Amino acid sequence: MAKRVLVSGGAGYIGSHVTVELIAAGYDVVVADNMSNCDMTCFEGVRKITGRDDIPFEQIDCCDAAAVEKLFTDYQIDAVIHFAAFKAVGESVAKPIMYYRNNLVSFLNILESAGRHGGCNVLFSSSATVYGEAEDLPVTEKTPRLPATSPYGNTKQMCEDILRDVVAATASSQGVIKGIALRYFNPIGAHPSALIGELPRGVPNNLVPFITQTAIGKRECLSIFGNDYPTEDGTCLRDYIDIVDLAKAHVAAVSRMLDGKMKEGYEIFNIGTGRPVSVYELVTAFEKVNGLKLNYRFVDRRPGDVMAIWADTSLANEELGWKAERTVEETLASAWAWEKHLAGK
Ligand code: WQD
Repeated sequence: MAKRVLVSGGAGYIGSHVTVELIAAGYDVVVADNMSNCDMTCFEGVRKITGRDDIPFEQIDCCDAAAVEKLFTDYQIDAVIHFAAFKAVGESVAKPIMYYRNNLVSFLNILESAGRHGGCNVLFSSSATVYGEAEDLPVTEKTPRLPATSPYGNTKQMCEDILRDVVAATASSQGVIKGIALRYFNPIGAHPSALIGELPRGVPNNLVPFITQTAIGKRECLSIFGNDYPTEDGTCLRDYIDIVDLAKAHVAAVSRMLDGKMKEGYEIFNIGTGRPVSVYELVTAFEKVNGLKLNYRFVDRRPGDVMAIWADTSLANEELGWKAERTVEETLASAWAWEKHLAGK
């Protein structure tokens, strides 16, 4: 019988792409989402791509302990991939309690029910934000985490630590909960089918949705935050990781847990490409690959931005047998195809 993976937050941007790849790899999935930051567009897209309209979908809030408990009673769950969380850095600064409550309580409920039902494997979606403004680049998993600069970033650090501690506590008794944290760099792009992609609510905070919305005419002009950084072209450097490549890393990590291949009870992997790309390079590549001109201007730096961060991905490459494959051009073409799909073009 196929192993079952619970994908919490599975109707969102990353969760929907991961669901597609899990199903392609032969796993059964149950998606749980409270739909607080998405609609059914991506889940419908997942059904179309996989040709499966029988994927179980449970509209629940993971902060509701009884609802999470019922999920674990109704389904035999072998692994959980936990995405259900708020993710807007700026909003988290304005509403810290909302962020701490949502992001921590939902995760605690999952861990508690997992433990109560004989334990299972838990993959936590973490972020390169835990490294802050690192001194030595690229960052490895051993690079020290720096104090978080937002409640959002702090919830990522706290959930990593919670998972580590829960694994340590169970290892001595039942050895049942194993954990992996994947630290994503900057996920961008969409599925090649253009049936699922990023669906920001309101004005996008992130670069690529802002680019595609400007190109389609929803926004007048892209502001590039800062061209006076001490980098080659003066703009910030990031490690932009294709969303389908990122999704495949989850399948590799889940298989590692379920196939008993983990070397420690709790493991951490950087998920990026290992290549730094500047904001200006990304904008230029977008224009070139899609054959259009983007309206942009340089403005002041955005407070809180780090100048540069990119991943050393050797651990994920070696241990997960995973590597980012799509080029940044392919990814930017997919982001544009998705924006056009949304516009009905
Ligand atoms: C990338 C680069 C901006 C918008 C954040 C979170 C992180 C993770 C991903 C999310 C930066 C520049 C951006 C714009 C610009 N979490 N930029 N004009 O800041 O690297 O990471 O999102 O869920 O935790 O911190 O990503 O896409 O916002 O910015 O010039 O309109 O693009 O300054 O250099 P970031 P981003």
